[in-house]
Amino acid sequence: MIRRLRMVDFKVFHDQELHFKPGTTAIVGPNGSGKTSILEAIEFALFRGVTRKEKAIKKVEELIRHSQRKAKVELDFVAPVNRREYRVVRTIHPGETNADLFQMGKMEPEVSDPKRVDAEVVRLLGIDRNAFSALTYVRQGEIFKLSRDFPSKRRSSLYSMMGLGVYEDAGKKVGTQAKTFGSEADQIDAARNELTQVKDILPTRDEIESALKALVEIEKEIGSRELLDELRRVVMRVDKSLSSVEDELASPRMTQRPEELREESELANHLKSILDAIPDIAEKQLRPHIREEARSLFREIFGDRYSDLVIDDDYDVTLFDIQGNEVPLKAASGGEDVCVNFALRVAVNTALQKYSIAGPPPGLIILDEPGAGLDEERRRWLPDAVQGLQAVEQVIVVTHMSELKGATDQIISLTPQGKGRQPLVET
Ligand SMILES: Nc1ncnc2c1ncn2[C@@H]1O[C@H](COP(=O)(O)OP(=O)(O)OP(=O)(O)O)[C@@H](O)[C@H]1O
Ligand SMILES: [Mg+2]
Repeated sequence: MIRRLRMVDFKVFHDQELHFKPGTTAIVGPNGSGKTSILEAIEFALFRGVTRKEKAIKKVEELIRHSQRKAKVELDFVAPVNRREYRVVRTIHPGETNADLFQMGKMEPEVSDPKRVDAEVVRLLGIDRNAFSALTYVRQGEIFKLSRDFPSKRRSSLYSMMGLGVYEDAGKKVGTQAKTFGSEADQIDAARNELTQVKDILPTRDEIESALKALVEIEKEIGSRELLDELRRVVMRVDKSLSSVEDELASPRMTQRPEELREESELANHLKSILDAIPDIAEKQLRPHIREEARSLFREIFGDRYSDLVIDDDYDVTLFDIQGNEVPLKAASGGEDVCVNFALRVAVNTALQKYSIAGPPPGLIILDEPGAGLDEERRRWLPDAVQGLQAVEQVIVVTHMSELKGATDQIISLTPQGKGRQPLVET
């Protein structure tokens, strides 16, 4: 949950502080007044980047207010993992960004350095930037994304929404580790073979001993030490080589390690198959709840025209009209498409909130202009739908339409003040 946002020289804002409460908040204002900018400041504070049209913007410097040299955002949020409050502070300078993460009330940052702050924020939120995009922040004009994706893409978007991408990633990592263990064991085996071959070429201990005895005999016979000393040194060197080859072959690295590595590799493979199975299991467990939530939300909104919304195993959506005729989603109108997407997202969020086996979801939904493309009649459901998001702790809806006025617990209203001046913000 988000508590407070401060933007300094961030896009249109010179220095603006906003306080957010649990429940629903509408951010209203005319085109270009800075509504989306507020959402971008939240995203930047959390993830050090801003996504537009499904791509990260290349230069975060463009977020610095025109003719200023640096921008700063501060975001206070409650971490879903431990319910503690944190403040993340990031600044943008040309060519670099800085970051600090504080536990609320502490003077010293817990973590500094942008990359480490990124990682800690992901840990605290329990979701990464992809999951945030899929689950939490529905960007302007992207509400259709879910229903228009191909089934396989839709499935992976939903996995990511359910926070299950982490298991896939972890599974891959563990699989790589298993391979590394395996090939390390193979390498040791190869080295042992080579050493065994070397040992075969070297004379045996008995042969060395007889050579030394022979040298003593010869010494007695001819009485000349010089040549014999030289020969003895050679034999001793051979003896030393033999000892070191034998020691190495008998060392734990050669005898036990390959077996240990193979055992570890087997364990890692086993773990991988468990990790690989979790998303499917979790998804199967959630699927009926998602179906139910989406269906009831959709019927609430469209009950006058449709009797049912059915989601199949590929998350393909079919609507049924009042007479019970099947209406494939492709044949539905743009506005209806928006409603299906809205219903799906809200359903995933609600189902997760109620039944998640992974950590709790961030308890936040951000919708940028969810009503765009809806006709007058359809827009009337927006307030109800927004109020109906009870299961989600905090909902922030951006709109320049008047429909939502009065429907949310809090309103942040932006009024442009002319070129180069920050908008007037009223709450
Ligand atoms: N670096 C910047 N410095 C100052 N102003 C900027 C900067 N970058 C963008 N802007 C301006 O910020 C304004 C606000 O944009 P924003 O997308 O937040 O508006 P919005 O309220 O979401 O509008 P809409 O209703 O059309 O979606 C735009 O007029 C844009 O030109
Ligand atoms: Mg906007």
